[in-house]
Amino acid sequence: MTQVPARAPRFVQAHLATPADLAEDRTALQAGLLRTPASVSPKYFYDRLGSRLFEAITELPEYYPTRTEAAIFAAHGAAMAQCAGSGATLVDLGAGNCAKAASLFPLLEPSRYVAVDISVDFMRDALRDVQREYPQIAMTGVGMDFTRSIELPAGLIDKRPLFFYPGSSIGNFTPADALAFLRRVRAQAGGGGLLIGVDLVKSRVLLERAYDDELGVTAAFNLNLLRHVNAQIGSDFHPADWRHVALFDEAASRIEMHLEARRDLTVRWPNGQRGFRAGERMHTENSYKYTPAGFAALLAEAGFAPGERWVDPNGWFAVFWAPAR
Ligand code: AVI
Repeated sequence: MTQVPARAPRFVQAHLATPADLAEDRTALQAGLLRTPASVSPKYFYDRLGSRLFEAITELPEYYPTRTEAAIFAAHGAAMAQCAGSGATLVDLGAGNCAKAASLFPLLEPSRYVAVDISVDFMRDALRDVQREYPQIAMTGVGMDFTRSIELPAGLIDKRPLFFYPGSSIGNFTPADALAFLRRVRAQAGGGGLLIGVDLVKSRVLLERAYDDELGVTAAFNLNLLRHVNAQIGSDFHPADWRHVALFDEAASRIEMHLEARRDLTVRWPNGQRGFRAGERMHTENSYKYTPAGFAALLAEAGFAPGERWVDPNGWFAVFWAPAR
């Protein structure tokens, strides 16, 4: 009997942060700490522990987005597949463990799967497992910061591109940055389209509970950023000196996360320091909430054609299909 060799995914690290990039990041981090009010980019949530805490958040009863989006995919996956058509190149932005996209393979039937995440190392094992389960699909893992540039290595998209951006991460961009990002996706998606998950405006109580859960997992996620900042610039933040704050700013339509100093204190690092008064806040994240019409308008402004949207029965979350004709 002849043995058919198992198919293996390809891995490409498109852009590795250079020492100059890292120095630039550290400079930006210190500048944010010195601003009034102080701010730290939400990218500092995601060290090893932070990524695990985020996974735990997605399991919390209060954090409705993940399971609501999963229910929308379960209920309407077939309709989504009809819109997107089979045989596409599925480009998964922020693929992580590849599980969300893989659960849709039987319906979407892509001919190629391109998993994109900040580092190929995050997805190596996951993509190998997915490849074993779906040997008929050509798979590539690409390590790149797609929030900066979405230009994939040449030759990867050989069929109609179907971009996939679930999880409502679009809400972590300002609306202006979201528009710029969607325009970049549109420029790459010609002949295909975008399937994207979006969190919707809802009552303050539900929103604030989702970002300030009873077990304190989101608080730990927010406070862990301080440890990550310490590791980056050698600062001496003590998480116990800070309190997690999450509030819904209705006018801006966004959840804001902050860390609030519990007492007057000074934070020091090798070439700087910053004093905080008790009650002073440091901004760590925005999570914008859209109306269905508002997000459809943003997609149109980014150059997508009118498409479809699916919303759960409570009207909490939406998945949009945006064709790029
Ligand atoms: C990753 N992103 C979509 C999450 C959100 O809901 O904005 C990040 C998060 N922050 C606190 N909880 C979850």
